[in-house]
Amino acid sequence: MKLDTTLEKVKLNSFEVEIFGLGYVGFPLAVRLASGGLNVRGVDINPERIRRLENDELLDSELHLKNEYMHCRKNNNLELSTEPKKIEKPKIGIICVHTPIPDENTPSNKFVKDAIENFLETSKAGDIIILESSVGGGTTEEMQKLVESRGYKIGQDYGFCFCPERIDPQNKKWHLENIPRIIYCSDDTSYKISERIYKNVNKAHLLRVESPKIAEVVKSYENAFRLVNISLVNELAILCDKLGIKVIDVIKAAATKPFGFMPFYPSAGAGGHCIPKDPRFLLDAAKKYDLKFSTIENALQINFQVPKYICNSIERTLEKLNLKKSVLVCGLTYKPDVEDMRDSPGFKILNEFKKRNFKILAYDPYFKKELLGKYLKENYIEGLDFEQITDFNDASLKNISCLCVVQHHTKTKFRLMEIYEKSLIPFIYDCQSQIEKKPESKTFLGSLGG
Ligand SMILES: NC(=O)c1ccc[n+]([C@@H]2O[C@H](COP(=O)([O-])OP(=O)(O)OC[C@H]3O[C@@H](n4cnc5c(N)ncnc54)[C@H](O)[C@@H]3O)[C@@H](O)[C@H]2O)c1
Repeated sequence: MKLDTTLEKVKLNSFEVEIFGLGYVGFPLAVRLASGGLNVRGVDINPERIRRLENDELLDSELHLKNEYMHCRKNNNLELSTEPKKIEKPKIGIICVHTPIPDENTPSNKFVKDAIENFLETSKAGDIIILESSVGGGTTEEMQKLVESRGYKIGQDYGFCFCPERIDPQNKKWHLENIPRIIYCSDDTSYKISERIYKNVNKAHLLRVESPKIAEVVKSYENAFRLVNISLVNELAILCDKLGIKVIDVIKAAATKPFGFMPFYPSAGAGGHCIPKDPRFLLDAAKKYDLKFSTIENALQINFQVPKYICNSIERTLEKLNLKKSVLVCGLTYKPDVEDMRDSPGFKILNEFKKRNFKILAYDPYFKKELLGKYLKENYIEGLDFEQITDFNDASLKNISCLCVVQHHTKTKFRLMEIYEKSLIPFIYDCQSQIEKKPESKTFLGSLGG
């Protein structure tokens, strides 16, 4: 089948979409496309994820999609499976698998390659692959070659697109439906088909770029921008600590400039599956040309140092206040209100305190005891042992000197204020400078950036 025939079939809704990877990116996309009336098969190699979804068990951060999801399941246009399916109609395979920081055994695009190879097992001429995972370093061209190695001619009887996802989980203003996307397409027909797919996602608000390298660099550059600015504000916060001024006052004042400035706020550092990882694609690309991308190298270095700086500040204050070395870290996810604990500053802080022989405890409403091994692996930490608090009650604070707040989840906001206002602990350190000083509290309040 030629791609022109595929386009005609897409216009008649006589095709299927197969989404590989039902995680933070793939699952909402599957629901969106199925809600738009497309026939979608969600494929995930994790049988446990499929089992849970089949039982309508969604993650907390996915609950807002539950009605839509149930509706698609009832309408039979969202199938779930651990395997792709051979069908006669054209198939659009959308790849949404993770792309971790590589180690010596696993290149970052390993899962992308596995998923594409798996799709190719049941694919045929006229099909299209849309890659949404964040990739760098020529991965798109490499994957096109992989498809061609099966006898297809990209742009003629097989389409390939790269449309990197930009989603920011829990961002209420900018979400799947209104974030514009950039897209590379191997040919005009594949672009027309993509427009019809993304019409159901973001009203096909697509900017087509002419080469896969542009799309790859755009995605990495966007996250490098975030990483560099997060590191910049965190380093500024450290300076403000020394100057005895509040970094928040500086940011608020600077943000009155109507152009050329965008406010970023202090934190224990960038985490998650994207910001500390994607800029490395640019570093790797630069290395191939004997270039140093020093801005990114420095930003990664600062990001690595901030948790240590926080631990130093806490340790010094405990000594000054003559308090025991015991700390309860609150917030282990990489951002508020999600359950994702990948590459999270909270774990770096716990690990640092462990090295310093602190008594360490941790609380996060999203923490699941049975997933501890997975969390440690995702944080590149071995053998970290800590007491997990499941109920953030007064008893859990007994004999603890410091509460180190890394993330302010909506679920913990009220309780944190109560702990502070009722002086239920001698010392609170707020990594995000969100708790306002109250003279009536006897708790010593420290924060990153004054
Ligand atoms: N999480 C975000 O906020 C976000 C935002 C923008 C872009 N991205 C990018 O999107 C991609 C996916 O990220 P994510 O956070 O959704 O990852 P995730 O870990 O939440 O989900 C990936 C899923 O893919 C499954 N999987 C792995 N190999 C597979 C295969 N061969 N076939 C089928 N399923 C397979 C895993 O079991 C997992 O459920 C990454 O490249 C990431 O950098 C993520």
